[in-house]
Amino acid sequence: MKIQIFDDHTDLAFDVADMLCRQIARKPDSVICFAAGTTPLSAYNIFTTLVETDAVDCRHITLIGLDEWVGIPPENTGSCAWFLRRTLIKPLNLSADRFRLFDGMSVDLDSECALMDEYVSGCGGIDLMVVGIGMNGHIGFNEPGGSPVLRSHVTPLNDVTSTVGQKYFTEKTELTKGITLGLGHLQDAANVILMASGENKARIMRETLEGEISIDVPASIVRKHRNSHVLMDQAAASLLSRRD
Ligand code: PGA
Repeated sequence: MKIQIFDDHTDLAFDVADMLCRQIARKPDSVICFAAGTTPLSAYNIFTTLVETDAVDCRHITLIGLDEWVGIPPENTGSCAWFLRRTLIKPLNLSADRFRLFDGMSVDLDSECALMDEYVSGCGGIDLMVVGIGMNGHIGFNEPGGSPVLRSHVTPLNDVTSTVGQKYFTEKTELTKGITLGLGHLQDAANVILMASGENKARIMRETLEGEISIDVPASIVRKHRNSHVLMDQAAASLLSRRD
């Protein structure tokens, strides 16, 4: 695991955008899993601008959406699908055969999980996962106390996730379940980028990096990954005992 601390969120976002460009330059047909959320938004915006200005060829990448709220349709602006379409799929002009998002409205969520797992295997696995961290340490909807080895699955949402998740929606929304890639996918991904930004992530970053590696703090599993990269701004790193 490599840890980097940046002066502020913008510096962090530029670095992640640059890492994405380098990944694609190195492997034009990269399979990249992207998280939705507030944390990666600036990095994605910088990335899509760099793609345009530096003519990075994204025609052969495959984009995989990390997770989705169950019961929320893709046209809802709070859905992960809406976020990923607006920030990445549309600006990168990805054709339908170059991405897969979970359908949180599926009447058969188990099949939806199986289809995603088949898709990931069919792509030859994930080259890079770009993820954030929840206030409770979740990655995607891999909630505290879940499984470190599961692949795609449906899970009840932790109270923290349902409450904090309201920030993505324009009106109060019932959030009870999520569908998500699993930590099994994360462990198998060739590279992982975990981003954390802001003072409100400081406590969970300390637990993630300095507490025990435990499924009670799902993100702590990145410490076992052979090629994980944790990028934080100063605010998110502010409670770490060592910052050098
Ligand atoms: P955020 O979400 O980037 O909006 O803080 C992170 C998460 O819950 O995984």
